[in-house]
Amino acid sequence: MKVSRIWAALLGAIAAHAAIVPTTTTKRTSSPFVSSEGSEFVVNGTNFKYIGTNAYWLPTLQDDEISTTLAKMAATGIKVVRLWAFNDVDAVPSNGTYFQVIQDGKTSINEGPNGLQRLDKVIELAEQQGLYVLLSLTNNFFPNVAKTSTKRGESQSLPRNYLSNDYGGMDLYVREFGAKHHDDFFTEEKIISAFQNYTSHIVSRYADKPSVFSWEIANGPSCNSTLPSSGSCQTTTVTKWHATMASHIKSVDPNHLVSAGTSGGQCLQCTKLFPLSAPSPQPSPSVKRRNVKQLTKKQLLKDRSEARRNNRKRAIEEGTLAKDGVQIRGRWVSTAAKRQSSPEVGQQFDGSTGVDSQDIMNIPDVGFGSFQLFPDQNNYAADDTTSTSSSDSFANTVNTGVDWINNQAQLGGAVGKPTIITGFGLVTQGNAPNFVPFNSSSSTDASSNASSDGVSNDQQDSAYTTWVNTGVAQGVNGIMQYQWGQSNVQTPNDGYSSSSNDGVQTVLQNAAQGIAADN
Ligand SMILES: *[C@@H]1O[C@H](CO)[C@@H](O)[C@H](O)[C@H]1NC(C)=O
Ligand SMILES: *[C@@H]1O[C@H](CO)[C@@H](O)[C@H](O)[C@H]1NC(C)=O
Ligand SMILES: *[C@@H]1O[C@H](CO)[C@@H](O)[C@H](O)[C@H]1NC(C)=O
Ligand SMILES: *[C@@H]1O[C@H](CO)[C@@H](O)[C@H](O)[C@H]1NC(C)=O
Ligand SMILES: *[C@@H]1O[C@H](CO)[C@@H](O)[C@H](O)[C@H]1NC(C)=O
Ligand SMILES: *[C@@H]1O[C@H](CO)[C@@H](O)[C@H](O)[C@H]1NC(C)=O
Repeated sequence: MKVSRIWAALLGAIAAHAAIVPTTTTKRTSSPFVSSEGSEFVVNGTNFKYIGTNAYWLPTLQDDEISTTLAKMAATGIKVVRLWAFNDVDAVPSNGTYFQVIQDGKTSINEGPNGLQRLDKVIELAEQQGLYVLLSLTNNFFPNVAKTSTKRGESQSLPRNYLSNDYGGMDLYVREFGAKHHDDFFTEEKIISAFQNYTSHIVSRYADKPSVFSWEIANGPSCNSTLPSSGSCQTTTVTKWHATMASHIKSVDPNHLVSAGTSGGQCLQCTKLFPLSAPSPQPSPSVKRRNVKQLTKKQLLKDRSEARRNNRKRAIEEGTLAKDGVQIRGRWVSTAAKRQSSPEVGQQFDGSTGVDSQDIMNIPDVGFGSFQLFPDQNNYAADDTTSTSSSDSFANTVNTGVDWINNQAQLGGAVGKPTIITGFGLVTQGNAPNFVPFNSSSSTDASSNASSDGVSNDQQDSAYTTWVNTGVAQGVNGIMQYQWGQSNVQTPNDGYSSSSNDGVQTVLQNAAQGIAADN
């Protein structure tokens, strides 16, 4: 038997929910736990917006290194740090941090000093700095291992826990539970039960801690990862799993919000399990109004063509249509885009990632939405044949990011929940040698240096400033850079570490000051 029990429970939940008409203003809570009201986060009775960062590796550091790193984040004005609350291995390692062994269909949790006590320590030290931790419970991504190997390859040049994808996650559960396809993680009852067991353990451990911002069900869930998709995975498969997990987490811990962790993929024309009720929910009067209209294919295409016209006009004015300037990988001219099933809207809007963020965000137990922005790894727009030169390509990357942020803010408005960007990044020239895509394993992978020029530090600052300002202006509730780099501590660099560009901290600091002044 696979999922019929879950299906039945879920259909019940949908039916029960369909009868509930969304009501306005509940009494504003003064709880120190993060809650939401309409499209706003509320903490201690006040709206809460923030600048944040990512540091999945924090539990692998020594105590003094963790303190130094968190203190610097706090001094920069950062309020929330996102990290992994999972660290799965397929056998007990000879050294280093791990939280769970998943081996041959069995799991066991490491409560020891190199186990969950490391996570306890990070949370304790974060509290001392007045920082929230946003904890992610598993990962879509996993190192590419040799096709013939059943275990993690030994050939990797980077140590375990260096790359964000090297902390276990979905594909490790799938493999160790004897399944074959990445999406078996969403449908095999034994695997769902194993992951629910892990989440119960972690979530109950910190259920009474207001310093936990929220529980993120998974980082970037989708139908694919290193293990192939079964071919039967659809957006509804992924949505249904989120509904199951969100209600499970809420049943263990009603204190915290549950967030999806999706990277923002949408499907404008897919069947919804949790359709938006009409008319769109209105934000409460205390909340600044934002666009609450649902994005349509027609509007997307219209916006796109207007953006293209503006880009071209600007490039002509600036004289940058020539073939000069800085080359970067992030671009919206892409051969991949030509293979899309629905080329006009692009893979982020046609459901081909297997994710429908609108449907997931509208699950009653999902407290807020999320998205990411990594132009070095994903296309956020359809093919643009008018973009000819490389400097034009940088402007396009920035502008495409702006459009993406606008679309995501609009999605949050349409669903009537807060939305955050859980990670954004552009690879610089200085970081390019370290760049490893999330769907890859080591810096020596042939796929990871397909192109490795990177932008200049100034371009990175400029892109980040534009994106952060756009997010703030559009009411995005949390804006989290990927990823922190602590210069006097050895912290991993997968191509996005900020340690090689001080300008990034200045961008974050300025934005944080702006938000603080606004509050
Ligand atoms: C909320 O109040 C608690 C307890 O007074 C405090 O520790 C916390 O920093 C406050 N949070 C914010 C965002 O102001
Ligand atoms: C930890 O284990 C790895 C793999 O077994 C080994 O390569 C590394 O040298 C060990 N590190 C320490 C500090 O013992
Ligand atoms: C989950 O936990 C329950 C209760 O402790 C246990 O019976 C079950 O075997 C576990 N499931 C898996 C897949 O480990
Ligand atoms: C990850 O890479 C593999 C090839 O190694 C590919 O088949 C798969 O589609 C990729 N997954 C994602 C989510 O990009
Ligand atoms: C995911 O896998 C499916 C089927 O294997 C494929 O059609 C699709 O293009 C893949 N998507 C991505 C983003 O790699
Ligand atoms: C990546 O770099 C290695 C070492 O320089 C080289 O052998 C390989 O061909 C490169 N791969 C690509 C796709 O450029």
